[in-house]
Amino acid sequence: MTAATATLESVDLTDPRTFLGRKPDLIRLWQEFRTHSPVHWHPVEGRQVPGFWVLSRYRDVMEVYRDNKRFTSERGNLLTTLLEGGDSAAGQMLAVTDGSRHRELRNLLLKAFSPRLLESVVDGVRRRSDQLMREAVDRGQCDFAQDVAEQIPMATIADLLGAPAADRDYLLSLTKQALSAEDAGQSAEEALVARNELLFYFSELAEIRREDPRDDVISVLATSTIGGKPLTEQEIVFNCYSIIIGGDETSRLSMICAVHELMEYPEQWRRLVAGEVTVESAVEEVLRWVSPAMHFGRRASTDVEIGGRTIRAGDVVTLWNSSANFDETVFDRPEEFDLGRTPNKHVSFGYGPHFCLGAYLGRGEIHALLTALRTHVAAVEPTGPARPIHSNFLHGYSSLPVRLRPVS
Ligand code: HEM
Repeated sequence: MTAATATLESVDLTDPRTFLGRKPDLIRLWQEFRTHSPVHWHPVEGRQVPGFWVLSRYRDVMEVYRDNKRFTSERGNLLTTLLEGGDSAAGQMLAVTDGSRHRELRNLLLKAFSPRLLESVVDGVRRRSDQLMREAVDRGQCDFAQDVAEQIPMATIADLLGAPAADRDYLLSLTKQALSAEDAGQSAEEALVARNELLFYFSELAEIRREDPRDDVISVLATSTIGGKPLTEQEIVFNCYSIIIGGDETSRLSMICAVHELMEYPEQWRRLVAGEVTVESAVEEVLRWVSPAMHFGRRASTDVEIGGRTIRAGDVVTLWNSSANFDETVFDRPEEFDLGRTPNKHVSFGYGPHFCLGAYLGRGEIHALLTALRTHVAAVEPTGPARPIHSNFLHGYSSLPVRLRPVS
């Protein structure tokens, strides 16, 4: 064992505290993984499985993402659920379903997620972002995470799903409890209770929409049939849950991190405001640099060799977007935040059969934010420390106090 691999052995990727380090340190850590142990075995104690594989190279991550026959999501697609032995929504919720049922559910949902139908939702996002940014600039100071970013994705998903506007705050607080433990004190039980409350909420709303369908995702799920049969109650509520969980937090954290990083890198802020880079390329670089969903995971269904190591059937395999997006064999100067970067084939939305269903919407939200920033804000600076979330899956902040100077 070399000194470098010995150091990597001591890194605990299950512990959220591992990800609280400075960005340059984390970039270096992943570089060490790619260089010295690109297909790395990470032992764990006291779980259903003895450990998991850590894939850090772009090409290995892509290989697993694209292959849902040899690497299934049906035993979970996040480290936490994979280590617990499975996901209770397996075979029913899109992200943790494979095979023909996954294709059928995905085709059904794709109808509700086509760019054509989402255009009006994205228009709403643009209006909302612009208004929130104007209000924040008028006040001069705000907590960008709570006063601006929190108001955008949840309202967007509520529109898309068809949840009444009055329920948004309630849905937002449940989502936060269900997925990102914002402070280290939150228990797994509290997250479970929040998750069950969300499922119950959707079950009731689906019942209402079945009687009185509208032009929204819940109505599509509640009234569609596959092969002449309606979706089961579980499939309906799990897929509503999947959209709310998948779409709120990732987009929200991307927006918060965008502002955080623009403050860290004033030259990139200047380029954005001066119009030296397109908003489109800035959106892609924010997604690459932030890698809001740090990893996803799979379980091998057969023995597979990757990078000279044998992954056995049943092994848990984790794919680290936060490393693949910095792979020097794919990205030129990966350690530089460069809003004009092109090409930029990041894997922040995954790849292959489970490629993010909400990618168009996610991009639209970050685009709307950057456009509103560059239209209304001349300068942005921190007025207090950013509070990082506590997670081994998502990266971002729950509080970001800032001062905003208006465009004169
Ligand atoms: C910046 C924002 C977002 C990021 C970074 C992101 C990231 C991802 C990634 C990496 C996957 C692949 C998971 C896997 O392979 O196991 C995924 C899947 C998914 N995402 Fe997103 N997402 C974002 C926004 C959204 C939005 C806005 C929605 C919905 C409104 C959404 C809904 C979904 C769904 C339903 C899946 C499962 C697709 C399937 O399994 O076929 N996401 N997302």
